[in-house]
Amino acid sequence: MSKSKAPVLEAKSLVKTYGRVIAIDGADLQLFPGEILAVVGDNGAGKSTMIKCLSGAEMPDGGSMELDGVPITFKRQKDSRDAGIETVYQTLAVSPALDIAANLFLGREVRKKGVLGVLFRMLDNSGMRKRAKDEITALGIGTIQNISQAVETLSGGQRQAVSVARAAAFGQKVIILDEPTAALGVKESGQVLKLIQSLRQRGLSIILISHNMPQVFEVADRIHIQRLGKRAAVVTPKSHTMNEVVAVMTGALKLDVKDQTLGPVN
Ligand SMILES: Nc1ncnc2c1ncn2[C@@H]1O[C@H](COP(=O)(O)OP(=O)(O)OP(=O)(O)O)[C@@H](O)[C@H]1O
Ligand SMILES: [Mg+2]
Repeated sequence: MSKSKAPVLEAKSLVKTYGRVIAIDGADLQLFPGEILAVVGDNGAGKSTMIKCLSGAEMPDGGSMELDGVPITFKRQKDSRDAGIETVYQTLAVSPALDIAANLFLGREVRKKGVLGVLFRMLDNSGMRKRAKDEITALGIGTIQNISQAVETLSGGQRQAVSVARAAAFGQKVIILDEPTAALGVKESGQVLKLIQSLRQRGLSIILISHNMPQVFEVADRIHIQRLGKRAAVVTPKSHTMNEVVAVMTGALKLDVKDQTLGPVN
């Protein structure tokens, strides 16, 4: 990751309000190619709202966004997926009644080859099941026993793993993960972190929203600190300590943009 590169994804002064609630209030974000950008902040700081704007789940009321330097307007989630951005939402967007394979391919089902697929629009179920199995195995979620199991019968952590597997399987440029390990056990969290690092190795850029500071400090290249609907600071695990990041999050300390030092809030 080199800072001289142009950002792959950028948000400038995003604003989103819900009635009288200002969820984000001029939020900026820069994601550089091949980096893991952690986004941290208190509850209600506007992290999820910001990434919903970046993934087309919500439309911002103000500000602008660019992908590879080109202005983007996402009206629905499909727009961002078509542009190469995969998102795992904090409130998981899975279809509980469908099985794991169907969930993985939701919205991008694979049709059978030839006349059956083209004319009769028949789905390549066995092909999708095999691919789903490969993805879940690659993720190392060995606790899922049957790929034909309905997602509603999975545990919370297993559901989360299915969502992460889906994002990893289809993300072309950017993968956004909103609290992907919140419901996971220690071993599964470790596997998801490893997966995130392997995605970075594949050249993908990752936004990781997390409240887990040790995890953030383990994998992040840079840490975006969100406070009161805005970016309060960007630091790195090398430049600052966990305590300092938490102090900026809570407003106890403020980052001096010029010399990157922390000081008291006036
Ligand atoms: N659909 C909505 N309707 C009304 N208010 C909303 C809606 N979505 C978010 N908000 C409000 O916007 C603010 C930011 O919420 P958001 O979910 O982005 O925070 P967050 O940083 O992701 O918090 P957390 O760490 O708890 O996930 C909060 O005050 C929240 O109550
Ligand atoms: Mg959130």
